[in-house]
Amino acid sequence: MTMAFASAFSAAAVDTARRPVGLCGGRGSDALASKAWPSSLGAVAAGARSSHALVRAAGRHHAARAWKMAVDTGAVQTAGSEREELTVQAASRTYPIVFGENVLSDVTLLGSLCRGHKALIVTNDKVGPLYMARVRDALERAGKQVFVEVLPDGEQYKSVASLGRVWDACMSAQLDRKSTLFALGGGVVGDIAGFAAATFVRGIDFVQLPTTLLAVVDSAVGGKTAVNHPAGKNMIGAFYQPTAVLVDALALRTLDNRQYAAGVAEIVKYGLIADAAFFEYLEANMDALMSRDPSVLRHAMRVSCQCKAGVVAADEREGGVRAILNLGHTFGHAIEAHEGYGSWLHGEAVAAGMVMAAEMSCRLGWLPREVVSRTEALLARVSLPIVPPPTMAIESFMRYMSVDKKVEAGVLKLILLDALGSAKVTADFDKEVLYDTIMLYQQRFKANPGKYMDQSVAAAGSSTSSGTTGNPAAQAAR
Ligand SMILES: NC(=O)c1ccc[n+]([C@@H]2O[C@H](COP(=O)([O-])OP(=O)(O)OC[C@H]3O[C@@H](n4cnc5c(N)ncnc54)[C@H](O)[C@@H]3O)[C@@H](O)[C@H]2O)c1
Ligand SMILES: [Zn+2]
Repeated sequence: MTMAFASAFSAAAVDTARRPVGLCGGRGSDALASKAWPSSLGAVAAGARSSHALVRAAGRHHAARAWKMAVDTGAVQTAGSEREELTVQAASRTYPIVFGENVLSDVTLLGSLCRGHKALIVTNDKVGPLYMARVRDALERAGKQVFVEVLPDGEQYKSVASLGRVWDACMSAQLDRKSTLFALGGGVVGDIAGFAAATFVRGIDFVQLPTTLLAVVDSAVGGKTAVNHPAGKNMIGAFYQPTAVLVDALALRTLDNRQYAAGVAEIVKYGLIADAAFFEYLEANMDALMSRDPSVLRHAMRVSCQCKAGVVAADEREGGVRAILNLGHTFGHAIEAHEGYGSWLHGEAVAAGMVMAAEMSCRLGWLPREVVSRTEALLARVSLPIVPPPTMAIESFMRYMSVDKKVEAGVLKLILLDALGSAKVTADFDKEVLYDTIMLYQQRFKANPGKYMDQSVAAAGSSTSSGTTGNPAAQAAR
């Protein structure tokens, strides 16, 4: 029943396993990239030939293959030393994550990712006015015929209806198998556009252009695509990897602080599940990360993406170890569903859920108390909630958790920690400890309602809301 990440990971033929410090990153920042990273995952050699030349040299080859060739040889330097690449080596596809300022307007890069003559940009009515013009201009300057589909903003539009709109746009633009779909936005746009790309003419290339921190470090990488069904979040979807992920940190500047913090919760998750040294780096640099210091943000994004890439390489379709990416999510999904989707942001619910998972791990005797305290302290510095909603009774937790995707044959599996930087997927725990963990917060609330309320999130009035129902199945799929 138990699957330890480290052992499962070491069996996988992924380059990250050779890393000397943890699995994902570690202390220090840029030096790490060139010194400790294997060439296929690390920062690329400066002063080498331009990647554009390499991509051009690849001629008619598939764009992703051209990038792979460039990255794997290490003989690539994009537009100066500020640009870096990681390679995701998923079973179904190998593709690059490119970090760099102004990648969204890089004519050669965008053009190289579009094999045919036509490109469709899918975005929403909030992100589109901010960033769509530069992507469209670059593609047009690369000689592509560009079409645009602007969806309404919000999780409630992550629906079959929106998916239909994208399919309609593909049809009316007469896209073919060589056309490329560009997903410009956060996780909602990326998930919808990815699923549309997976299904239109049985699969066309798509490129993720993530514009939220959460999308950069989580949803844009790894190939999970989906729309919601009225009775279930992410219930209709496919595993379908992008051909590239382009990350322009400048595009995160317009993201509001609450959305940014929600992305930071997922970054902290990578430290907890796989890399103690990265967790320590975050403790030392959280203020800089929250002030969006470019080098700290770049490092945090890079290590997070590397961690996700390593896990996806080991287990693309979540047969086992990929589930560790859901640390805190079983508790978190229950909170989201209880509160009504969009009331708490996903990252906020995951923050409280990670504290609960750490607390439970500690009560099981697997994790030192000081790691729980450090986790609470780090998340609290980001103004993320570190306790579940005061009104959420144990019955609600059990009701929602009983339909979690990680319930198999009636047995609930949880992601728990057995050390800082080490997670396991397990059903092998004392159920009483789970109940006690949940009860703890109710007891704290009764003992000191004011303090408890301060630690919870003032979630009412959030701008994002979901059309997904609050029924238990609504949080079944991730
Ligand atoms: N596929 C996966 O593996 C995966 C992983 C995690 C989450 N998800 C999904 O991702 C979605 C959540 O993603 P999200 O947090 O990015 O939410 P989101 O896409 O709704 O974006 C959050 C808000 O920020 C706005 N926004 C986006 N970029 C902006 C920018 N640069 N400046 C200003 N505003 C901007 C959006 O329009 C939206 O209002 C959920 O649907 C979740 O299910 C998928
Ligand atoms: Zn998440």
